[in-house]
This record gives sequence, C-alpha cells and structure tokens, in this order.
Amino acid sequence: MHLNLTEVDHPLLKHKLTLLRNAETTTDNFRRVVREIAAMMAYEVTRDLPTEMITVTTPVTECQAPVIAGKKLCLVSIMRAGNGMIDGMIELLPGARVGHIGLYRDPHTLQAVEYYYKVPEDIDERLVIVVDPMLATGNSASAALSRLKEDGVTSLKFVCLLAAPEGISTLAEHHPEVPILAGAVDSHLNDHGYIVPGLGDAGDRLFGTR
Ligand code: URA
Repeated sequence: MHLNLTEVDHPLLKHKLTLLRNAETTTDNFRRVVREIAAMMAYEVTRDLPTEMITVTTPVTECQAPVIAGKKLCLVSIMRAGNGMIDGMIELLPGARVGHIGLYRDPHTLQAVEYYYKVPEDIDERLVIVVDPMLATGNSASAALSRLKEDGVTSLKFVCLLAAPEGISTLAEHHPEVPILAGAVDSHLNDHGYIVPGLGDAGDRLFGTR
C-alpha cells in the first residue's frame, strides 16, 4: 500500500459517500453531495498548510493571529468527473486557481493520451491539488501527475472520493511522494475497470449521461 495514503475518517463524509453509492440517488442529489464531500475534502487536504502570524486589529484590540502562508494553491481537475469536485473545493478555497487536464485511453496502446491541458502560468510555484472522484487503475491520475511534473510542479497532492487498491499501487509505483487523500478505499476493480462496490461511472452520474 501507499505510505502516503490517508482515508478520511469522518461519519458525515462516510454517510454522504453511502448516498453516492446508492444507485437510486438522482443526478441532482448526486451532484450536490459530491460538492459537499469535496468541500470536506478541501478542509482535510489543507490540514497541513503552513501558517504565519500577522498583526490584526479587532474591534477590541490589536493582536497576533495566523493566516495561511507558503505556496499559493491550484486545483487541477481530471476531466470530466473531476469538474464535479471543483465547486465544493473552491467554496473553501476561493483564492485557488483551477486547471484542467483531459485524457483519454488510446484503445490500441491503452496509454493515457492528453487532449486538453490548461493550467495557470505560474503552476510550478503552486501547491497543486489534483482531483478525480475515482482512483481506479490510476493510469489517468499517474499521467496527470507526470504532466504537471513536466511543467515543473514540485508540490502535489491527489484527492479522490473512492480509491481502488490497483490505483493506489499505480501511484505508489510512479509517484510515491504524492500524498493521496481518499474518502474510502474499496475492494477491487471489476473486469470493466469499475471500482467495486464503488458508485458506478462518476461522470455519468454527475452529468446525467450514460
Ligand atoms: N471511473 C468511474 O467513474 N467509476 C469507476 O468505478 C471507475 C472509474
């Protein structure tokens, strides 16, 4: 397993994940709950951000109080399902920039091929949090992390709702230094590449497609 893996341990988040797993959950509820969980994960993934003390004047007196210090943030969505997590995360991190990476799997080589890449110019100076609800084989996540490293990014984290052991192993092999934050770690992948028990196709459930 990945030494850098953290599974969020919170009853509210687990409850909301169960709502997502339920095949009866409607598209509008699914979308809303993904947003809510994403906000909770933004809270967890920023737990170790550095702070510095500043002087602030309250209505009562002047005091020293902490503010976030260090690198600025950039969220990067792995399209398309990652987009469903961005709104919830930027509710908590309104100053974060947002990048997008689009990848598809070449049916012949089975390799991830990039079809879209748009990130801030100063991406290499930022702490980059890559988001994709489902860490399945880990191939897209691994390709996205490699692409960002090619652009000079040195501070990376990966956030997903559900992770399969196979995906965790892929990231452990290729990006062992990148911390993974997962809402839950599921059993395995089935023959179609779906996480079991999982929640189905996150993109389809978010956008009401099939
Ligand atoms: N992508 C999904 O949306 N669901 C899975 O179960 C695996 C990959």
